[in-house]
Amino acid sequence: MILLTGATGTVGGHVLRLLATGDARPSPAPAPVPVRALVRDPSRLAPPFGVEVVRGDFDDPGSLRAAMEGVTDLFLATAAGPSVAAHDTAAVGAAAAAGVRRVVKLSALRVPGVRMRVAEWHAPGEQALEESGMAWTLLRPAGFASNSLQWAEAVRAGGPVPNTTGEGRQAVVDPRDVAEAAAAALLSPRGSRHEGRAYVLTGPEPMSVPDQVAAIGRLLGPGRAPGCVDVPPAAAAEAMRGAGMSEDFVGAALQGMEMLGSGRGEILGDGVREALGRPARPFEDWVRDHLDAFTGARPE
Ligand SMILES: NC(=O)c1ccc[n+]([C@@H]2O[C@H](COP(=O)([O-])OP(=O)(O)OC[C@H]3O[C@@H](n4cnc5c(N)ncnc54)[C@H](OP(=O)(O)O)[C@@H]3O)[C@@H](O)[C@H]2O)c1
Repeated sequence: MILLTGATGTVGGHVLRLLATGDARPSPAPAPVPVRALVRDPSRLAPPFGVEVVRGDFDDPGSLRAAMEGVTDLFLATAAGPSVAAHDTAAVGAAAAAGVRRVVKLSALRVPGVRMRVAEWHAPGEQALEESGMAWTLLRPAGFASNSLQWAEAVRAGGPVPNTTGEGRQAVVDPRDVAEAAAAALLSPRGSRHEGRAYVLTGPEPMSVPDQVAAIGRLLGPGRAPGCVDVPPAAAAEAMRGAGMSEDFVGAALQGMEMLGSGRGEILGDGVREALGRPARPFEDWVRDHLDAFTGARPE
C-alpha cells in the first residue's frame, strides 16, 4: 500500500494520477499497487478509480497513525511554510512506528553558500528520515514551472508581468518531472537505486523571468508578448504582507527573490536524468500544456 500526502497539491496530484493510471509502472507491470490518499477535506479530491481516500491532517497525530496502517511506502509532501518541519517529522515518526519501509520526500533545492529558509524548513524532515531506519529518497527541486501561473492574470490582460528578480535566472522544473521521479522511486523494487538518493531536480536551462515571459509570448502567438516590469523585492514583500501572508513566509519569499536576483540561483541538477533516464522537460512544454490559463480559455 502506497500512502500519498499532498494529493490535492501540484506534485502530489500528478503522483496520484501516475500511480492510479499505471502510466508510471515499469514494464512488465507488477501487480497493481494499492494507493491511499490522505487529505484534510476528502470533498476536495475526486480520486481516480480504485484510490482509497482517508481524512487526515499532519497536525492530528491520531489521523496519521490510522492512515499509516498497512502502508509500505509513503509519499511525503507538505505545504510550503514554517510548518514543514513539524509536519514532516510528525509524518516520519508515524511512518516509522507503523512499519513503513520507504519514504519519498518532496524537499527543496539547496543553494550552495546560502542558508535558504525554505531549505531550512525541510532540513529537520530530511534528517528525521535519514535517522529513521526507513529507506528514503529525497526530491530537491528548483522552483516549479507552474509558479508562472501567478502571471496568468497579467498575461491575459496583455501584460506587463511583474519581475522581482531582474535578469537573475533559475532552471525551473516541470512539476510533472518531479512527480515522475517520485512515482519511479515509489514503484521501484526494495533496495532499488533510488534509495538513499537526493535528486536535484531542475529544468534543462536557467531562464530569467523575462526569458520565461518571452517563451509564453512566443507560444501565445505573434503580437502577444506581454513584457515585464521591474518590481523591487521589498515592494513585492509589502504586497504579500498586505495580502495577509505570514512574516515567515514573506521573509522566505524575499530571500528567494534576492538570491535569484543576485544570480546565485543558476543551479543545474541532473536529477531528472538520474531518476528517469531522460532529459528534463523544457519550460515551453509546461506552458504549451497549460496555455489555456494564459489565454483565458478556461480558468487556471
Ligand atoms: N513551488 C515551488 O516552486 C517549490 C519548489 C521547490 C520545493 N517546493 C516544496 O514543495 C512543497 C509543496 O508542494 P506542492 O506545490 O506540490 O504542494 P501544494 O500545491 O502547495 O499543496 C500542498 C498540499 O499539502 C496539503 N496540506 C497542507 N496542509 C496540510 C496538513 N496540515 N495536513 C495534511 N495535508 C496538508 C494540501 O492539502 P489541502 O487540500 O488540505 O490544502 C495540499 O495537498 C513544499 O514543501 C515546498 O517547499 C516547492
